[in-house]
Amino acid sequence: MYTHHLHHFISERLLGYHALPLTGSGLNIYNRFMANAAAIDELYNGLYAHHPNKEKCFEQLIDTMVAFAKARNQRLVAKDEQKLTKGNWYLSNEIVGMSLYVDRFCGSIKNLAQRLDYFEELGVNLLHLMPVFESPENESDGGYAVSDFRNVDKRFGTNKDLDTLQTSMESKGMYLMLDIVFNHTSERHEWARKARQGDAHYQQFFYMYSDRELPDAFEKTMPEIFPESAPGSFTYVPECNKWVMTVFHNYQWDLNFGNPAVLVAMMENVFYSANLGVDILRIDAPAFIWKQLGTSCQNLPQAHQLLQLLKHCVNVVAPGMALLGEAIVAPQEIMKYFGTGKYAEQECDFAYNATLMALQWDALATKDVRILKKAVLEVLPKPYGTTWITYTRCHDDIGLGYDDKYITEAGFNAFEHRKFLKNYYGGDYVASPAIGALFGYNPKTQDARISGSLASLCGLEKALALKDKIFIKASLNKMMMMQAFTFFVGGVPMLFYGDEMAYTNDYSYQADAGKSYDNRWMHRPVINWEKNDRRKIKGSLEEQIFTQYQHLIYCRKSLAALADINNLEWLDTGNNHVAGFIRRTAKQVLYCFFNFDEDETGISWQLLKEARNEGGDLYDYWNKIKVTAGADDEHLIIRGYGFNVLEITLPTGD
Ligand code: GLC
Repeated sequence: MYTHHLHHFISERLLGYHALPLTGSGLNIYNRFMANAAAIDELYNGLYAHHPNKEKCFEQLIDTMVAFAKARNQRLVAKDEQKLTKGNWYLSNEIVGMSLYVDRFCGSIKNLAQRLDYFEELGVNLLHLMPVFESPENESDGGYAVSDFRNVDKRFGTNKDLDTLQTSMESKGMYLMLDIVFNHTSERHEWARKARQGDAHYQQFFYMYSDRELPDAFEKTMPEIFPESAPGSFTYVPECNKWVMTVFHNYQWDLNFGNPAVLVAMMENVFYSANLGVDILRIDAPAFIWKQLGTSCQNLPQAHQLLQLLKHCVNVVAPGMALLGEAIVAPQEIMKYFGTGKYAEQECDFAYNATLMALQWDALATKDVRILKKAVLEVLPKPYGTTWITYTRCHDDIGLGYDDKYITEAGFNAFEHRKFLKNYYGGDYVASPAIGALFGYNPKTQDARISGSLASLCGLEKALALKDKIFIKASLNKMMMMQAFTFFVGGVPMLFYGDEMAYTNDYSYQADAGKSYDNRWMHRPVINWEKNDRRKIKGSLEEQIFTQYQHLIYCRKSLAALADINNLEWLDTGNNHVAGFIRRTAKQVLYCFFNFDEDETGISWQLLKEARNEGGDLYDYWNKIKVTAGADDEHLIIRGYGFNVLEITLPTGD
């Protein structure tokens, strides 16, 4: 939409004040500004129309965008162009990611740059580096309490090291994902320090109150995020005698995006990351970025407008950078992060499929996929061009965030069911093979999430202690089945470092004062490279598991139907232990089945009629065998904790 006043203003700013040349990349910047101006204006005014500084801050926002767009280096500009030509480059089946803590993985960013061949050997080509910017050593929430958004923490190396790493990753065709911790800063960030000293300008960067009246009113409706380690949502700051909003830990101060100066300051940090060469920017905790009295202060419409605004600004400055919204919220809420209404597909390009992840853990514990089958439909209809990060484990806890109604519809008692899951994974059920722990237990609501590594939750820790070979094999099968589900269901699979080597829980965090209050550290291992090098020893546990991951990644990259073109069709397998879906393109049909039970089971060939119609031959990619479709009264047999990825051989039409 063309608005004379707005376009004239932007044009003047770009061509006059900034003397942007209307040639080459200058012209591209100009065009992108013009294309996104109306949306930026509308979204900005939707949030700040009544703010006294709205005009000044709007001008600053535009100026910041021009400055960063002009400063973007030519290599990245060329990469943006390539990505735009490909169109939705991130939907590809050829991307496989891994999240890792640089220091725990290999010490430093410099060392990481030396280890890129490890990822190449595995097949991983997207790295999510857990926060690397400055954060206070013992009060960092794993780096999610940032004290300087532009300076790499010396624990990990230097800005130069990061730049070198990015360049070598790029030369190998690898993608980089970093976080922007958008919702809060560390209490040691310059803005917070100034606010603490009484600077009124910076006090308005946060939610600060002189007495408990508003904090008490807010807390009436705000759920607690870390009820055990950081109860409540406000922290008293004695130096200025004020209460500041701290939704997460008391050292993480929530930014007040109701103030447009905060928007401008944080957008500068977004663009700074973009110009480092980030391919996917993970927006931390976006559900929380807008607060309103009397609400849960999560998933508010303004939070979505803010993200849509961010998206349009990024379209101008760094059009090749995709956005991942780290909203770990209920299924009906998560879909909104892809954008709605006229901004559908204009918000986050990625969201985490936390619902699916949690449902997998549900099915694994109960050996029953009925709840999963019902609840997954809620996370199906997303706009074309958007996709998921799929995962079985990450650095955070597993929240059982799906609605009770699905549990009831599947025929279970919701309270008892959740209690069983907590006991099964949390260590209170003797017969459970899993070793994990409850995280964030809230005695008031009885809510709890789960900590533990993939391997330990799948029984490996217990099996190794018992030296039970059968049990060990079953745990490995479980891990691979869980991962395969994540790999084939649609979206970019994100492994968590250490899982490719089946690391079990690491309890060393208990002796570290900066970590002992947070049991999520049990599943954030310190890599022992002697162990990892055992992958080269034939027959070792490490070799077995690493090779299986390599094969899994190979399967994903070979199967074009796994690219996320919204081509997921869930199947009713007629078997409560087996989840199944089809991934289909005009050229390829894949049937995927996953047995969540320890015993062998079967599904009727009737379900795969299409295979017979096409000539009866299927290729099982995982097991590398040809399979011939059976008759309707026969069954495709799936071993305990096994899975099949069956391609129907379609006639070539020659
Ligand atoms: C995100 C991070 C989590 C962190 C929280 C607060 O959810 O994944 O680790 O504790 O944000 O920053």
